[in-house]
Amino acid sequence: MSDTDLDEHAIGILKANDRGGYTVPTARLYPFQWNWDSAFAALGFAAFDRDRAWGELDKLFQGQWADGMVPHIIFWSPSTDYFPGPDVWASGTEPPTSGISQPPVAASIVAELVSTGDDSDLERASRLYPKLLASHRWFHTHRDPENRGVIAVVHPWESGRDNCPDWDPAMDTIAVAPDLETYQRRDTEHIGADQRPSTAQYDRYLTILTFGRNQGWDQQEIIRAGPFLVGDPGIHFILLRADRDLLGLAKRFGSGDDEREIGGWIARAEQAADGLWNEEAGGFTARDLRSGVFSSGLASVSPLSLYAGAGSPGQRERIANETRRIIERVRFALPSWDPDHPAFEQRRYWRGPVWLIMNYMIARGFREAGSPDVADRIADDALRLVRQSGFFEYYCPMTGEGLGGGDFTWTAAVWLALRGPEIAQGMS
Ligand code: DGY
Repeated sequence: MSDTDLDEHAIGILKANDRGGYTVPTARLYPFQWNWDSAFAALGFAAFDRDRAWGELDKLFQGQWADGMVPHIIFWSPSTDYFPGPDVWASGTEPPTSGISQPPVAASIVAELVSTGDDSDLERASRLYPKLLASHRWFHTHRDPENRGVIAVVHPWESGRDNCPDWDPAMDTIAVAPDLETYQRRDTEHIGADQRPSTAQYDRYLTILTFGRNQGWDQQEIIRAGPFLVGDPGIHFILLRADRDLLGLAKRFGSGDDEREIGGWIARAEQAADGLWNEEAGGFTARDLRSGVFSSGLASVSPLSLYAGAGSPGQRERIANETRRIIERVRFALPSWDPDHPAFEQRRYWRGPVWLIMNYMIARGFREAGSPDVADRIADDALRLVRQSGFFEYYCPMTGEGLGGGDFTWTAAVWLALRGPEIAQGMS
């Protein structure tokens, strides 16, 4: 298939996954609206239908909780294809949702739409701005429990990197609830179990979920006594970047107080990044906030520090060197976990495979940090993967095999975003 045929295919995927105002990540495996998937979907729609792009974001924020949280799943309509569904989460909200959030990429995507758009984009952004501000305030209030600036997740699903080895040390300390209700996974009915999290991990995902539900999703109690509280460099850096982008929006649409508040978040997060620096591993890694124990290896979120504009010159150099080492080890960059680490599994979800949304953000970070060679390699590999295998959820870094769900929304969206200028030419 030529690149222009792939453009058409990507557009077709976004349209086919549209469920009337929101897109599902892929049919059957993920049959609802997911938070960061939808934000990336908006980036993809922006390549050919800007009104639909804004509609995707508006719909996502219709699920926002009164306290500002944008939940990780919004259950707009029922489906028996997925577990755990709305009855298990029992959010008590309308629409029903999950009880945790996901990486806050929305403000960065709004800023991107504004910078490439016109007055109508400005108008749509101004309407979303207060909701974006509330969602960032929620993270800084409820996911920075020590008020020190390190952003934590209370469930591996909140990180979006469900079974990454980053969470292994904390997951190993969780005793499965003795009264855990029996459940039936649906994901492994759609996708090979060797590409998905293990049963032991699912037992713990459900144990953590049940704790939150039993607290009525009281965030203070979840932070105080919940089974999982881990500093996440993924969310920390995505939020820091999104705070900078939000500050740009605040200058247009907000008040001086907003600017000061956001500026305070940025300064604190820049400083606090050191709390996630793992000298032994050579990068920013997850860290259990209760025990202080670091994750033992490098995930692909470590170089997101560049995307966030964080880290000392020495830390940046070390990250660039480690990334170059990792790139040498694979045919397709950038694996979600270090291939030289014993926990690496090339086909299993977040324990090794390449995810194009990560490539999009990481390549951008390296470009902005003045390493165009690394940026080009990571962006080019994203395109090469699609040319070789089509639009999958994730890919094997060694062979390029497409894995997980097919006809995947955010992969199609990243293809369109990376191909942006060519698509605009093809359409003119
Ligand atoms: C899943 O079900 O695999 C999702 O990643 C949870 O959000």
